[in-house]
Amino acid sequence: MSFRDVPKVELHLHHEGAAPPEFIRQLAQEKSVDLSGIFDAQGNYSFGDFLEFLSVYEAATEVLKTPEDFHRLTLAILEQSAANGMIYSETFLSPDFCGGGDVGAWREYLHAITEAADIAEKKHGIMLRGIVTCIRHFGPDKARLIGKCAAETAGDWIVGFGMGGDESAGAQGDFSYAFDMAREAGLRLTTHAGEWGGPDEIRAALRDLKVERIGHGVRAAEDAELMAELAATGVVLEVCPGSNVSLGIFENIAVHPIAKLRDAGVKVTVSTDDPPFFHATMTKEYDELAQAFGWDAGDFRALNETAAQAAFCDADTRARIFKRLENQ
Ligand code: ADE
Ligand code: ZN
Repeated sequence: MSFRDVPKVELHLHHEGAAPPEFIRQLAQEKSVDLSGIFDAQGNYSFGDFLEFLSVYEAATEVLKTPEDFHRLTLAILEQSAANGMIYSETFLSPDFCGGGDVGAWREYLHAITEAADIAEKKHGIMLRGIVTCIRHFGPDKARLIGKCAAETAGDWIVGFGMGGDESAGAQGDFSYAFDMAREAGLRLTTHAGEWGGPDEIRAALRDLKVERIGHGVRAAEDAELMAELAATGVVLEVCPGSNVSLGIFENIAVHPIAKLRDAGVKVTVSTDDPPFFHATMTKEYDELAQAFGWDAGDFRALNETAAQAAFCDADTRARIFKRLENQ
C-alpha cells in the first residue's frame, strides 16, 4: 500500500532545496550558466558529505536571480508537493538568495512567491506559508538583515523565522538579536539543531533563541533527560528521516530514532527537507516509516494532527487544515 493520497502537512521544506534538478538545469540553459559540475551522469544533484551538499545547494541558487525565477520555482515545488498529498506546507525562504538581505528587493521576491502560491492553491488546493530563514554559516551580521526582512514582512503569510546552514558555525546564541527582532514582530520561531550537533545544541536553541520547534532535533534521542524535557514542554521536532539517512547521520531508516523519540512522548512530525537532493518525497517517507516501524493510517493521522497543531499559521488556516484532515 502507498500513502500517496493521505492528506499531509509538511513543516520543514527549504524552498531552494526543493528545486527539481531539471528545473535548475533549464534555468541554467536559459541564462547560459554552466552548472554541469553539480549534477551526476543521471542528472541528479551530486555531493558527498554535508558541507558539499551545502555548496551544491548554494551553487544551484546561482540561476535563481529574479522574482520571476522564484515564481516559476514556487509553481514547480507546489505541483510536486500536491502530487504527494500535501494540503499545507511551510517553506523556508532565504532573503540571502532573494535580494541579498535588502528589504525592498525581498518584498518583490515575496510578492512573486505568494502570487505563485495563490495560483497553486486554486489549482491544487495546497496552502503554503513562509518561514524567513537566516543561514548560520553566513554569520550573525547577515542574520540581522534577514531578521529585519522577516520583521518587515511578518503577517498571515510570513508566519515564522528560522535558521538553517552549518550547525558547527558559531553558536545558536550568536543569533539571538535576529530571533528577538522576529519574535517582537509576532513571528513564531524554529531553528535547525541536533541534526549534526548533539543534545547541547538543542538545549542552546531552546535557552538562547527560545524557539518552539526544532528543525531535526533527532540527536535528542541520545539523552533521556532531554527527551523527557521535550516531552514535558511540548517542543515539536521537524524530523526529516530521508534527509538524515541520505546525508549519513543514520545508516538506514530502521535505525533512525524517530520511533524512539515518539515512544518517549516527544512530539514528532515528518518532512522532506530538500526532497530532490535526497531522492525523497513525502509519499516515500511514509511508505518507509510504515515498513520500518509498522506505522499505519492511524499513526500518520496522529502525526499530521500534531503537525497541524504546530503549524505557525493563523487560527482560520489551522481550522481549514483540520477540516481537510477530517475529510480524508
Ligand atoms: N539547509 C538546507 N538543508 C539543510 C539541512 N539539512 N541542514 C541545515 N541546513 C540546511
Ligand atoms: Zn532543513
